[in-house]
Amino acid sequence: MRSALLLPLAQLAAAQTFPAKADGDVAGGIFSISLPDLGARIAKDGAAMFGSGHGKESPAAKTTVKTGGTGPYIAQYQTDPTIPSHVVYAPKTPPPIPMPVIVWGNGGCQFDGTAFSNFLTEIASHGYLVVADGPPGGTFLKGQSKVQDMRDSVDWVEKGGAAKYGQIDTKKIIAAGQSCGGLEAYSMTYHDPRIIQTMHFNIGIFQDDKKYLLKEIKVPQAYFLGGPHDIGYLLGEKDYSLLNAGLPAFKASLDTGHDGTYWSANGGKFGKAAVAYLQWQLRGDAKSKAYCLGKGAGSLVGDNWNVTSKNWT
Ligand SMILES: *[C@@H]1O[C@H](CO)[C@@H](O)[C@H](O)[C@H]1NC(C)=O
Repeated sequence: MRSALLLPLAQLAAAQTFPAKADGDVAGGIFSISLPDLGARIAKDGAAMFGSGHGKESPAAKTTVKTGGTGPYIAQYQTDPTIPSHVVYAPKTPPPIPMPVIVWGNGGCQFDGTAFSNFLTEIASHGYLVVADGPPGGTFLKGQSKVQDMRDSVDWVEKGGAAKYGQIDTKKIIAAGQSCGGLEAYSMTYHDPRIIQTMHFNIGIFQDDKKYLLKEIKVPQAYFLGGPHDIGYLLGEKDYSLLNAGLPAFKASLDTGHDGTYWSANGGKFGKAAVAYLQWQLRGDAKSKAYCLGKGAGSLVGDNWNVTSKNWT
């Protein structure tokens, strides 16, 4: 017979199960939050924790300037009939170096592969292939992506779908995303050994009773947060502190609020930070490492970010 005393333990055990796959029932997968729960959270924390214009480093306005990025390989985005529900960002001409891959989930898990085009073009211009969830949008919400959309990107790359864009380093695939897209990136990383790192922008896990899932995250994690006016700030801070012991991790925070600087020319300071982190991690670039970990002028700290990192050799 089941006693009332045992019930909480049974519930705890149920809560601590690790599903084989992380797709779950909601956009962003098992690390994510349902829209009703998110609504309750917004009611509690205030809508001002979303959106832009709340921090000292918030851009005054979205830019209308579109460039091919500041990197050595002028980049662009395009649709590709072999992966029609996504947008591919790549250098216009195949670069002379192998390209690592970033599979990207948008804020709100919005199904709009051009929602972060300035930022993603900037990354691609440094010799990266980026595959973003959703076809080109232009409108705000065309529905939400699922973890499977990000998995489709990885499958496509692994099967050689991206070969026409240049030499692809299929052993260097990073899952990344902003807000809900960052939670989707966690879910993509979970139990999928093809993902070598995860990058989270303005987000961490919302629910404390889901933080145990971090035990199954076994590759380096990076958080780029928007300071105290970003609903993702304390969430990402907490995730960083709860990661498995010894796991390399990086955390940087700039006072922009939840919207970062993605809609500035070339993705603004978030674009610069993301590129530096990638160049450090994936190409071992010493200047980029110094920009990420250094203190004075010519570092993230010099550019007004708070930076913490651990367990890098
Ligand atoms: C940076 O750290 C200081 C000290 O902990 C804190 O007061 C400030 O809000 C942080 N800023 C950002 C942008 O995270």
